[in-house]
Amino acid sequence: MSIEAKNENKEFKPLIVAFCCNWCSYAGADLAGSSRLTYPADVKIIRVPCSCRVNPLFILRAFQRGADGVIMCGCHPGDCHYSTGNYYARRRMTLLFSMLDYLGVENGRTRVEWVSAAEGVKFSQTMNEFVEKIHSLGENVRLEDLRCKKN
Ligand code: FES
Repeated sequence: MSIEAKNENKEFKPLIVAFCCNWCSYAGADLAGSSRLTYPADVKIIRVPCSCRVNPLFILRAFQRGADGVIMCGCHPGDCHYSTGNYYARRRMTLLFSMLDYLGVENGRTRVEWVSAAEGVKFSQTMNEFVEKIHSLGENVRLEDLRCKKN
């Protein structure tokens, strides 16, 4: 079998990491689940106490370890359980995204979204949109660490 034929058979299954704050976004994901709303299983949720717990290095490490997209979800501005956590997170992510842009990682591979505990529909829609976007971008090879390559 030729290499091209092998590649055609290999369907792209993106690995997407979603950091969700415990108080709003994770509860929104829970609501999406209990409301029987669907989103692709490609999304792996990591629950964090607050969006500000997400160190930008976590996102770089996720890309190194083979993630094709990373999304961070937190409470709406002004609603953070810890008052100002998401403001810090927003500033950090703005800086990180401009650095990723400089490194050549496509813009659409990262996203920040505010999802409240009552927004199960928004959570599901956001994840579906994001997965679709990652599908259109294809596999991420820009920051991959070959030692973490899955084969
Ligand atoms: Fe949700 Fe801080 S607790 S963003």
